[in-house]
Amino acid sequence: MEKDTPQKRDIIFYIRRFDPEHDEAPWLQQFTVQVERGMTILDGLHQIKETQDSSLAWRFSCRMGVCGSCAMLINGKPALACNTQILEVTNHIITLAPLPNFAIIKDLVPDLRPLFEKHRYIHPYIKREDLEEMTNPTGEYFQSPQELEKYLQFTYCIKCGACIAACPTMATDREYLGPTALAQAYRYNTDSRDGGFKARKDMVEFPHGVFSCHYAGECSRVCPKGVDPARAIQLIKRELVLDYLKLKRHKKPALALNPSEREEQKPRTLAPPFTVES
Ligand code: FES
Repeated sequence: MEKDTPQKRDIIFYIRRFDPEHDEAPWLQQFTVQVERGMTILDGLHQIKETQDSSLAWRFSCRMGVCGSCAMLINGKPALACNTQILEVTNHIITLAPLPNFAIIKDLVPDLRPLFEKHRYIHPYIKREDLEEMTNPTGEYFQSPQELEKYLQFTYCIKCGACIAACPTMATDREYLGPTALAQAYRYNTDSRDGGFKARKDMVEFPHGVFSCHYAGECSRVCPKGVDPARAIQLIKRELVLDYLKLKRHKKPALALNPSEREEQKPRTLAPPFTVES
């Protein structure tokens, strides 16, 4: 029997449980949680662990939508548990499951190793030929605000795995590089300080690479940080086609500036106007 008060409401949590040491297959367990306004899914899980079943496992760290470790399937949609208020998604029942398209370590904990291995594979860092400048820097590489704008949104990725969990291509091909790695390949290729396009070309073009994407767009729909990996993937395809047709303009990566040049190149930022009378 549910007990509702203006402040608190009983919400039923159906949680998919799986312990590889004891279970042959995942199973559903029901919990009732007293929820008040402002409680997140993560708070609900803590309440269950503290008062009902201490064996329940999930992953979290920052509690503020930054680390990406608490991503799970919430009512069938990949989302961050710490960033989802219970009463915003339900008044009655909630179902929680681990992210699809990953192996399950235990209960709500997916094995994210393939995500990080594929991310590492595309060389997610500035690549250049002037290794001397990279190892013994003499100045900073200049980048204008307009150049930064071209890839800025892709830097917001927190590697939570929500896009991979939502990707239909990944559901049928576990070797597929996936939206996280491909969006980061585009992010570095587009960085005006980077010269790694040629090196990354073979990495993203192989049979399980960028052309496996069917443009379902689910990755962008579920991203909790508003990143658009589907767009990045289409833009990589465009770059590769232009390169194949020898129409791609290969710009030289930005040079290091000495201190006097740096002063000249610095964008002049004006202070915003006063909003109150002094
Ligand atoms: Fe860090 Fe949720 S706990 S994103």
